[in-house]
Amino acid sequence: TGPLTIAEFANKINKPVTEIVKYFFKKGMMLNQNFILNEDQIGELALEYGYDFKKENSVTKENLLETFEVEDTPESLVERAPIVTIMGHVDHGKTTLLDALRHTNVTKGEAGGITQAIGAYQAIAPRSKKKITFIDTPGHEAFTEMRSRGANATDIIILVVAADDGVMPQTEEAIDHAKNAGVPIIVFINKMDKPDANPDRVKSELMERGIVTEEWGGDIPFIEGSARENIGLDDLLDTILLVAEVEDLKANPNKFASGVVIEAHLDKARGPVASILVQQGTLRLRDILVAGGTHGTIRDIRDDKNKAITQAGPSTPVQIVGLNEVPQPGDKFLVLNDEKIARDIAEAQAQKIARDAMQGSKIVTLDSIKSQI
Ligand code: GTP
Ligand code: MG
Repeated sequence: TGPLTIAEFANKINKPVTEIVKYFFKKGMMLNQNFILNEDQIGELALEYGYDFKKENSVTKENLLETFEVEDTPESLVERAPIVTIMGHVDHGKTTLLDALRHTNVTKGEAGGITQAIGAYQAIAPRSKKKITFIDTPGHEAFTEMRSRGANATDIIILVVAADDGVMPQTEEAIDHAKNAGVPIIVFINKMDKPDANPDRVKSELMERGIVTEEWGGDIPFIEGSARENIGLDDLLDTILLVAEVEDLKANPNKFASGVVIEAHLDKARGPVASILVQQGTLRLRDILVAGGTHGTIRDIRDDKNKAITQAGPSTPVQIVGLNEVPQPGDKFLVLNDEKIARDIAEAQAQKIARDAMQGSKIVTLDSIKSQI
């Protein structure tokens, strides 16, 4: 059993797939039949079609943490770096683009010193000198999984489309992800250096899917360039910052840190190592935190260049050491600075995770909806 797609849902309630697609279309979302519904959407559809779907009350994990989260006053909020995810079809140049953007930021001396293990890094836009945080190409599944767990870490999606290939299945998936998450899109038409590059074809194919370039009267910024030849990268960075400005991204740096785990693994020498993104507050060495079903005191903080640092503010990706176990990508973390509370919450959450795994109910599955419809 896997997550529930539109096609599966339609089949379940004996309606044509087109009817469900139309339902979302009327709400401004263009989804195909393979789109994976989240719990809210299933609940909404069930209501629409008169089925009694009880939303699973399975967010104890977040609820527990939220009771510790602090409300921010408007005065406490300061500008933060945008968090950007690059998506697109296989081989359209996502990794090349990430590498190229990363290197715009690397001075000659530190060229060799950049670690890629962290899964996220910061670049500095050359013109404005402002920071931008990139999350390294998570697979689309990882993105959906993070979102289904409420860990919506992305402010802006860059959609990479190869100029010689055009819109492909994973391009469409990325569009769905962006629309569902309500995240603004910037299109980067890549591989413009190729002789058979056809940017107009890309523009019209995207227009058919509701992504209309500003050039043609739409509201989506398009940049044409080449990740391999370093063309259009400064424009892309500037455009990211323009979009970020409109989004008015802010966070309160003056509280205990909270955020999300991007990836984690067990290091033989150092123990559990987690790459995390600080979204709120400031993380400090010796902080006591809970991350999903794990907890611990931070013994080491590294930045995206693997440099030891002592604190990290909002939108900063860092690697930490000190958790008792390996957390999961998408786990939320929160600094509590109380050993006992951190341990209690982590244990409660670990039990919940184990229970969910046993019941297979972590995400809404075909079986779980079968039993409720
Ligand atoms: P996956 O991770 O497999 O989904 O692919 P990707 O989207 O990360 O693509 P990747 O960056 O690995 O690039 C795929 C191929 O396209 C590589 O051979 C790159 O060298 C090439 N490529 C990427 N960008 C450009 C470009 O701007 N121009 C040209 N000519 N080739 C490019
Ligand atoms: Mg890649």
